[in-house]
Amino acid sequence: MAVERESVDTSEAEIAVHWGEENYVYPSAEFIAQANMTDPSVFDRFSLENFPNCFKEYADLLSWYEYWQTTLDTSDAPCWKWFVGGKINASYNCIDRHLAKNRNKTAIHFAPEPVGEKYEHITYQELYVRVNEFAALLRDFAGLKKGDRVTLHMPMVPELPITMLACARLGVIHSQVFGGFSGKACADRIVDSQSRVLITMDAYWRSGHLIDHKHGADIACDLAGKDGQKVDKVLIWQRYPGKASSPTAMVKGRDYFVNEELNKYYGARIEPERMSAEAPLFLMYTSGTTGKPKGCQHSTGGYLAYVTGTSKYVQDIHPEDVYWCMADIGWITGHSYIVYGPLALCASTVIFEGVPTFPDAGRAWKIAQDLNVNIFHTAPTTIRALRKIGPDEPAKYKFKFKHMTTVGEPIEPEVWRWYHEVVGKGTAAIVDTWWQTETGGFLCSTLPAIKPMKAGSTGPGVPGIHPIIFDENAKEIPRGAGKAGNICIQNPWPGAFQTIWGDRDRFVRTYYERYCKNPKSKDWRDWPYLTGDAAVEAPDGYYRILGRIDDVINVSGHRLGTKEIESAAMTVAEVAEAAVVPVKHDVKGIEPDLYIALKPGFKASEALEKKISDAVCSEIGKIAKPRRVWLVKDMPKTRSGKIMRRVLASISNKKDVGDVTTLANPEIVEDIRKMSK
Ligand code: PRX
Repeated sequence: MAVERESVDTSEAEIAVHWGEENYVYPSAEFIAQANMTDPSVFDRFSLENFPNCFKEYADLLSWYEYWQTTLDTSDAPCWKWFVGGKINASYNCIDRHLAKNRNKTAIHFAPEPVGEKYEHITYQELYVRVNEFAALLRDFAGLKKGDRVTLHMPMVPELPITMLACARLGVIHSQVFGGFSGKACADRIVDSQSRVLITMDAYWRSGHLIDHKHGADIACDLAGKDGQKVDKVLIWQRYPGKASSPTAMVKGRDYFVNEELNKYYGARIEPERMSAEAPLFLMYTSGTTGKPKGCQHSTGGYLAYVTGTSKYVQDIHPEDVYWCMADIGWITGHSYIVYGPLALCASTVIFEGVPTFPDAGRAWKIAQDLNVNIFHTAPTTIRALRKIGPDEPAKYKFKFKHMTTVGEPIEPEVWRWYHEVVGKGTAAIVDTWWQTETGGFLCSTLPAIKPMKAGSTGPGVPGIHPIIFDENAKEIPRGAGKAGNICIQNPWPGAFQTIWGDRDRFVRTYYERYCKNPKSKDWRDWPYLTGDAAVEAPDGYYRILGRIDDVINVSGHRLGTKEIESAAMTVAEVAEAAVVPVKHDVKGIEPDLYIALKPGFKASEALEKKISDAVCSEIGKIAKPRRVWLVKDMPKTRSGKIMRRVLASISNKKDVGDVTTLANPEIVEDIRKMSK
């Protein structure tokens, strides 16, 4: 079939500074003795021969109103349908079903950022009450019903999972936008999902500042309105109910404080909607190769089964555990492994409002000590930062993790060892989990009690995930060859997203077209899923992920499209051309460097550099802020006029630029290189 490909002349995978194979590290007997999964035959049960029925094991962890008849329906390939015929509600599974035995148990521990503010411990009963009352408000005051989309732009507070679970109770599709994203980024997602209700919070704490978050809602509504999507209600949770924390005025007839309206729904109880397994549960927007983020549509039954199964067996969550995933719920990690997975298993999940380095580098360990956290989950960028500024801090606090996770980026063996020895105090089992927004849950990881750990490697496919590595010509790289290629997944799995919201063609093109064996086929074997990552497989079946092969970069564990940043820079009138390249950074992993050629007649200045950098922050958010804006006389170009990002990336990474004699303007390379000195 015709393969349409974005041309990428430099990628994360290409600049990856990688490491070799490390030795195995074994989990302790104590860990194994208590683990949820200790039976190595799980890999036979989840072999390709037993696919797809093996996933019944995960579906059976849930409570169904009506049991499903078909495990996997492939008739609309590659939009797979799981557990067809089943009826289920995610809110019921995360709350109601636990009440009989565990209503007094803490569902959510909330750690506010100000040290002087008390922890909040929300029991399952209280969660039930708050979710029901808010669901009543959403239904009766906001007029939301099954299938509607609603955009959330919320910080890390318990009101966020309460909102998500209230939506799920009604069958309303939530689309949470990371709180750190700008009003403009929020507007784009409101428009794409056609949301007419925005749910936000007036303010939240970050690094000692009470940030005015309501301001972003006004920008989002204005811009969405200009783009044809009117927001008729903004529901605003107050960080301190009854007290104004944001100087931004309320808009009459549009903005409402949740706590004021909520009084009218005191005591309301809402029967959960009986959703079909394939009904969408939420959208999660993520970056791709174009400027426009894509809304990954996740299902109810398949998604919930997958995150519950992997939370139980990979995260080793038991109901008695205190589990802390320090991601943000605005990313997929938070949806799957702060909210849905742990709550479906009746665990206690921790939500932390702030940053782990504020007020000092011991903050995370203090929270762990206070709450007696025993499972910890974070990203390498955080581990690197905590190691850099507080290498001896963990030893000062009394906490003991039985299990720790790393997610989102490759972790250097040296950093892994600090995590293991200093944070894990030499005894915690570590899993390095590789997956994506699109995949709903883990793809590769070791199973903590069955497979030994190996620093710097993610591990083999988790049960039921069968990776395969292809070369550029769609030839399979032999298993265990240690040779880099494009890692794909051979089979569907229940956690996988169903499509890109409103853009099935883009879904098929981006994830399946490249290695599809027959576009007419209804057989899943013909549709390997392209992850967009490069990887190598060692002889023992463990994978090492090298990084993205496309125009996506991973900045501090946050996924950004280089095209998105370039489009943001192009909104500045003086800019003629923009090119973003990934640069290695010892804490953030990768940073974006932004090269700009100005329109004729404009002169380079520091003020202009700042203007462009500010534009990127207001279009996307501070996380996309370039390391440096380089105002160059011209971009290095091929004779056909294509910007040679590879050359720019070499300069930014202080690498040899290689042969540039075939460029249309080779002299410019030296000019730019001099700027970097
Ligand atoms: O490049 C891979 C990297 O993060 C990408 C997915 O980003 P996102 O959709 O934001 O989801 C992040 C959290 C699941 C992947 O394509 N990535 C994720 N986990 C790892 C990783 N790279 C190496 N090792 C990992 N454990």
